[in-house]
Amino acid sequence: MLEGEFRRRILEKAFEKKSRVILAFDEHGEDAVNKLIVLCESLKEHVVGVKIGLPTMLSSGLQGLSRLIKRFKEDYVFIADVKMADVSHVNSLISRLLYETGFDAIISHGFIGYEGGLEGVFHEAERLGKGVIIVVSMSHPGSKDFIDPVSDRLVQIALKYMADGVVAPATRLRIVEEVRKTVGSSLLILTPGVGAQGAPYGAGLSAGADFEIIGRSITSSLNPVEKALEVKMEHGRILGQRAC
Ligand code: XMP
Repeated sequence: MLEGEFRRRILEKAFEKKSRVILAFDEHGEDAVNKLIVLCESLKEHVVGVKIGLPTMLSSGLQGLSRLIKRFKEDYVFIADVKMADVSHVNSLISRLLYETGFDAIISHGFIGYEGGLEGVFHEAERLGKGVIIVVSMSHPGSKDFIDPVSDRLVQIALKYMADGVVAPATRLRIVEEVRKTVGSSLLILTPGVGAQGAPYGAGLSAGADFEIIGRSITSSLNPVEKALEVKMEHGRILGQRAC
């Protein structure tokens, strides 16, 4: 299977930095971009990607983020977490704006289906050589109401249309294990839910994920570099066990 550019780059960064950490940044307000610049400067050696959420995009706008991404594009992959869920022509416009801002990949919901929904995202990604990541389960308890009963089908959509990866929660490891069994090495698995949401660092990796998405534990820490190192050390221990 052809490896997309996003997937190639994030795995390259993981190897170079010996890190499986994606920083989640959701802060808002006048100073959010400046805070993210400081974090990006200090975490270069320890974090492979930066996932930016809607609170930051809505309060800072895409122009400021575009400058930030340009400045750090050699150091990180940038992921736009908009959890897309609209119809195709709107998804297509949103994707174009985000990819042109410099984001390397977009997180989209899968439950909208492909025809007239996800196809807008996939077409733009293909046209611009960018990545798509599909949500197949979520870390909050309400995910059990509607999303989890169709997780398997969401994984199948991600496989069929050759997404780069999926998001599955470190708060429910059985799901991560099932996803890994189904996708083998065809898709990356990104797991949020560690740290502030309760799962221990490394829980996602121990269930077979490739990366852990970590936000507040690092962004709210008095010493983000020390926190990232603490996580990295735990990851190293777990990956060592996984290799045995
Ligand atoms: P914290 O601060 O809790 O941040 O470490 C977690 C980040 O991950 C996002 N998040 C999710 N994204 N599926 C997703 O696609 C999920 O189940 C999920 N749970 C948390 C959240 O937006 C934040 O940026």
